[in-house]
Formats: sequence, C-alpha cells, structure tokens
Amino acid sequence: MINNQIYLPSPSQKGIMSLEEAIARRRSIRDFTPQPVSQSQLSQILWAAQGLTDTWGRYRTVPSAGATYPLEIFVACGRNSIEEIDDGIYRYNINNHSLTLHYRGDVRLELARAALNEEIIYQAPVDIVICALFERTTLSYGSRGERYVLMEVGHAGQNIYLQATALGLATVAIGAFHDEQVREVLRLEQQIKPLYIMPIGKAA
Ligand SMILES: Cc1cc2nc3c(=O)[nH]c(=O)nc-3n(C[C@H](O)[C@H](O)[C@H](O)COP(=O)(O)O)c2cc1C
Repeated sequence: MINNQIYLPSPSQKGIMSLEEAIARRRSIRDFTPQPVSQSQLSQILWAAQGLTDTWGRYRTVPSAGATYPLEIFVACGRNSIEEIDDGIYRYNINNHSLTLHYRGDVRLELARAALNEEIIYQAPVDIVICALFERTTLSYGSRGERYVLMEVGHAGQNIYLQATALGLATVAIGAFHDEQVREVLRLEQQIKPLYIMPIGKAA
C-alpha cells in the first residue's frame, strides 16, 4: 500500500467462460464460503463494474447517460477477505484502477444490520457497494437524470454478476436496506447514495 492506495493488477480482457455461458449460468447466490477473493479477481470485478475501456480515459465498461458517470464504487472487506488487503472500506479509483483506504476496520456486520440483518453481507468475504452522485447526471438532464442513474446502476450490477460468474464466483444484488444507515456505516458524504450491495465470494 502506497499512501493508503492499492494498485490492483491489470484486468484481463480474455476469459475461460464465453459471454453466452456466463449469461446462461448467472444466478443470485445467497450462501458463501469465507474463502478469500484474490486481488486479480477483485480487479476484474471492479473493472467490469466501472473500469475504463478507452485509452483517453473517457469511456467505461458500463454505458452512462451523456457519459456523466454518476457511479462510485466502494468495497467493504474483513481480515483475510482479499489476499494482502487489510480489513476496511475502500473506494475504487476508476482513473488508475486502484483502491484508496476510506476507513480501517471490518464493517460487514454493521452493513448487514443496515440491510435488514441480511447475513450473507457478513458471510461473504467482500461486499461491493455501488453508490451514485445523482447531481453528476441531473445537472445535465434535470429530474429525468434520476431515472438514468438508476438504469446505470443496473448495467453495472449485471456486469458484476456476469464477471463473477465467469470467474467461478457468486454474488447477489441487494436493494433492501436503509439508505441512511448504509451511508453512515460506509462513512459516505451526504450526497453519495448507496444503491446496490453485492456480496462477492465463492458459493458454498
Ligand atoms: C432491483 C433488485 C433488487 C434486489 N434486491 C434483492 C435483495 O434485497 N435481496 C436479495 O436476496 N435479492 C435481491 N435481488 C435479487 C433477486 O431476488 C433475484 O434476481 C431474483 O430472485 C431472480 O433470481 P436470479 O437473479 O437468480 O435469476 C434483487 C434484484 C433486483 C433486480
């Protein structure tokens, strides 16, 4: 870790499973082993969710209304959840494919409590939380931008599902939680709204 920043391994653009097979196999899984996720698996999942896909750093893996990119991705993990990464909350930096330590400590249990005691949130080694800064999109599109942001989180969520499937990992998109409580647990600024919690791990 350099200055609280972890540079992730470069994502691969070739995989073993075809896109068709990943689509056919994708399923919401609600039972995980505590087996850690590797840095390269996490790298791949974050790239699929929001990574850059052009050399100018302008476009990403997920479409975005007017390329306004309102999504921000956070990762909550425990000790021994991700190889060589301490427990904590990390923010994904899209521009250089790195993680910044946002808070030190395992918050998965608190996060589960904020999500109607959904135990898979602390059972899984890693929780990806997709959040949005609605203003980035509503600035251009007014109130219609709100629906664009919600559509975009669906694109990111599906990419996470498909990438997890292709890596032999499991996930489920969780929308049932108390927004304010999740925001407090993740120590998010007021304007950053959590939209999806996606636990990631090996299926039990
Ligand atoms: C917007 C949305 C919110 C969801 N919220 C939850 C949730 O809070 N908890 C949960 O266990 N599954 C949740 N799911 C997953 C659905 O239950 C799941 O997709 C559905 O049962 C179909 O199963 P499949 O994903 O395996 O095809 C959600 C899915 C979507 C699209």
